[in-house]
Amino acid sequence: MCDGRDMKNGFDLPGRLMNGYTVHATRRKRIILLVCLQPSEFVSPTIQFGVDSRMPPPVAATSKVSMVISHASMKANSAASDYALGNTDAEHERLIRQAKWLATPTERCFREAGIGQGQCVLDLGSGVGDVTLLLARIVGLAGEVVGVERDPRSIARAKSRVAEAGLHNVRFTQSDVSQISNDKPFDAAVGRYILMFLPDPIGVLRSLARLIRPGGVLAFQEPCWDSFLLHAARLPLWSVGASLMLETFKRSGANTGMGPALSRIFQEAGLPAPSTRMDTLFGAEEWMPDVLRSLRPQFLQFNLPFESLGDFDTLSQRLQAEVAATDMRTPLPDLVSAWCRKPERVPSQ
Ligand SMILES: C[S@@+](CC[C@H](N)C(=O)[O-])C[C@H]1O[C@@H](n2cnc3c(N)ncnc32)[C@H](O)[C@@H]1O
Repeated sequence: MCDGRDMKNGFDLPGRLMNGYTVHATRRKRIILLVCLQPSEFVSPTIQFGVDSRMPPPVAATSKVSMVISHASMKANSAASDYALGNTDAEHERLIRQAKWLATPTERCFREAGIGQGQCVLDLGSGVGDVTLLLARIVGLAGEVVGVERDPRSIARAKSRVAEAGLHNVRFTQSDVSQISNDKPFDAAVGRYILMFLPDPIGVLRSLARLIRPGGVLAFQEPCWDSFLLHAARLPLWSVGASLMLETFKRSGANTGMGPALSRIFQEAGLPAPSTRMDTLFGAEEWMPDVLRSLRPQFLQFNLPFESLGDFDTLSQRLQAEVAATDMRTPLPDLVSAWCRKPERVPSQ
């Protein structure tokens, strides 16, 4: 499926290896491992080892998480709170750095899903505009992109980036993604790292389907933490950081099983089984300290024992030193992509 479609659309995908993985070296010398899966393969237990939120996590990850949590003098604040990463200027810059890693698989997903010139596309949880800017290039001057974001500071930053880029085919709406309405149907709705933060992702997908024309595209990308946790489990400081990160997301109400659950969630929203892909991106040495810094206020709020991370000013070097002592770079959480077309009739619920 993958190879054929990519050849047809003129994408630059490299050859498959015998184990079904495809290796792709980017210009920045990062290595991307691609796993192309049919919807039916995606539920294979060999691929989905412990990744569904309803399944137990990998053994190594479980033991590390429980180790950190048992050391916490927990003021147990396990109720869902708000968006864990916050909306500070530092977090905005982190999102921009993160987007550079994700740009290639995101663009590939959108193009493969059928988004193209002249289309009108909705970008959910647009943040500081990285996905929106990417889409604006794909749809061109004849198309339009509408970013939906509830944080006004993020929208202000996104708008200034759009103006800097000289683009006139983009606008932003300040709204919760569960409250969107529009008078004319969109050709597509997309989102990256947004469904995991929503209390009712199925309800949001169902409402979105009503805003898309029949035959229009829905495409979402969410993380799968498995390989990141397995790699981190081998390195002491990485283990602590990874456990704190996951625990903080969970306590803030985020669904850390969203990537692997995408196929199910599409179908529970009344959509067809989506096409899926999973990309592994190496380079977490820079990504990990960035995320930990953004989550730091939440470590305090949840009374998590983040002191074991040591001085944040030297965290980056210490994490890199642990990786440098091994032969292996550490992957970011895998990026799961899922996309489908809206059928002529979406069953009403
Ligand atoms: C992890 S960021 C991803 C930003 C962007 N999609 C990207 O990939 O760079 C998630 C964004 O969704 C926004 N967000 C979270 N929950 C939201 C909601 N219910 N409605 C609208 N925006 C939301 C956050 O403010 C944040 O800007």
